[in-house]
Amino acid sequence: MPAYAEFIQKYPVYDRTHDIDELRERDYPRLDRTGQVYLDYTGGGLYAESQLRLHQQVLADHVFGNPHSSNPTSMAATTLIESARLSILQFFHADPAEYTVIFTQNASGALKLVGESYPFAPGDRYLLTFDNHNSVNGIREYAHSRGAEVTYIPVCLPDLRIDTEALEAGLDTAAAGKNNLFAYPAQSNFSGVQHPLEWIERAHARGWDVLLDVAAFVPTNPLDLGLYKADFVPLSFYKIFGYPTGIGALVARRESLKKLHRPWFAGGTITVASVQGDKYYLAEAPAGFEDGTLDYLNIPAVEIGLDHIRAIGYETIHQRVRCLTGWALDNLSAMRHSSGVPLVRVYGPLDTVQRGGAVTLNFYDRSDSPVDIRLVDQAASQHNISLRTGCFCNPGAGEIALGISKPELAACFTRSGDERLSYDDFRLCIDNKASGAVRVSMGLVSNFEDVQMLLKFAEGLLQ
Ligand SMILES: Cc1ncc(COP(=O)(O)O)c(C=O)c1O
Repeated sequence: MPAYAEFIQKYPVYDRTHDIDELRERDYPRLDRTGQVYLDYTGGGLYAESQLRLHQQVLADHVFGNPHSSNPTSMAATTLIESARLSILQFFHADPAEYTVIFTQNASGALKLVGESYPFAPGDRYLLTFDNHNSVNGIREYAHSRGAEVTYIPVCLPDLRIDTEALEAGLDTAAAGKNNLFAYPAQSNFSGVQHPLEWIERAHARGWDVLLDVAAFVPTNPLDLGLYKADFVPLSFYKIFGYPTGIGALVARRESLKKLHRPWFAGGTITVASVQGDKYYLAEAPAGFEDGTLDYLNIPAVEIGLDHIRAIGYETIHQRVRCLTGWALDNLSAMRHSSGVPLVRVYGPLDTVQRGGAVTLNFYDRSDSPVDIRLVDQAASQHNISLRTGCFCNPGAGEIALGISKPELAACFTRSGDERLSYDDFRLCIDNKASGAVRVSMGLVSNFEDVQMLLKFAEGLLQ
């Protein structure tokens, strides 16, 4: 049976997503014109040409001034900024009376805002999953430096999901009358695993504030903050619709923001600041959390991007990505060398239940040794395939997936101060083990041909 017919037989829902094929032809022609096989949607989304045109039109039609004023051009900028804020809240079903949107540079900027302002003190807790982006891991440095206790909840092989018992035990450690922050990703940028959103209320009930990292989740899954009321929700817009880069948000519950103490003030964040009086008054959120001048010329493009996603519909995007991910997993995991050794080892679930479109794996040769990810990267690039190699800023999931133990890591991390450990030193230190992995991720305008190109590339590695 031809591959496409077999695919449709197995994933019939794909047939209902052909609007995206037309959209790709119309609005993303550069993809097929340049022959690029884009498989790094978890790294960054792709923009449609229509988004650029609409944005350019907004800029061409209006005169915008710095929004920190009340003159007409300033007010024109403010109007579009406030409209974008409202649009973001609506997009995530967040009640404006309960939530607000703080614009940041990216998801990491949103996470830093929480880290530096969360009132960690001795006796407080920071609980987080092994499976987290480094920008969530980095918050532990604020917790450590202010004497709070940091605890990690491990993920389990082979699916890299959280051990529910360990999670419950972790949640039971909230310190009464203290500040307790629990952080996890709605979708792993390493394994594609989707962690249950039901944890939010379970954590709230036991006294935790919840930071839900949705950066890898919202590009292909709807988020309903009316149902799942996380306190702090960081994200980057380029991951959802590709353009503009440089804008993210912290969507946050107004009540939870009252708990945060900013460590400084800046232009735009205060109602009044005095030099001689040595005093300042922080503005209410969101202004109190937005340092300096917002990217007011690009923020209108966020609303355009949200409208673009709305017009396509999350159901179509989600189903399409689910089908393509399933097909990639089915085929990659079935490939065998002539020696009988499987070509790939996938880190994460092999089916499409509660997982997104990121598939992380390593290639193995016929004698079952890992193929150096740098060679895979080079070979893929020669085929115009954009994939990602490394640990994707998620060392916790990577260490468990690759079987790198705590003592092995301790032996490598003996250098301190200015003696930096390079990636090559690290590889040598953990000897023959794979020190990273290969990630392919499907997204908004991925199609069957993209996945077939990946499979053809993988077949070329068979010995
Ligand atoms: C789950 C997750 N969180 C946070 C981030 C950080 O996003 P940014 O680099 O846009 O700040 C990423 C980026 O890949 C991510 O995948």
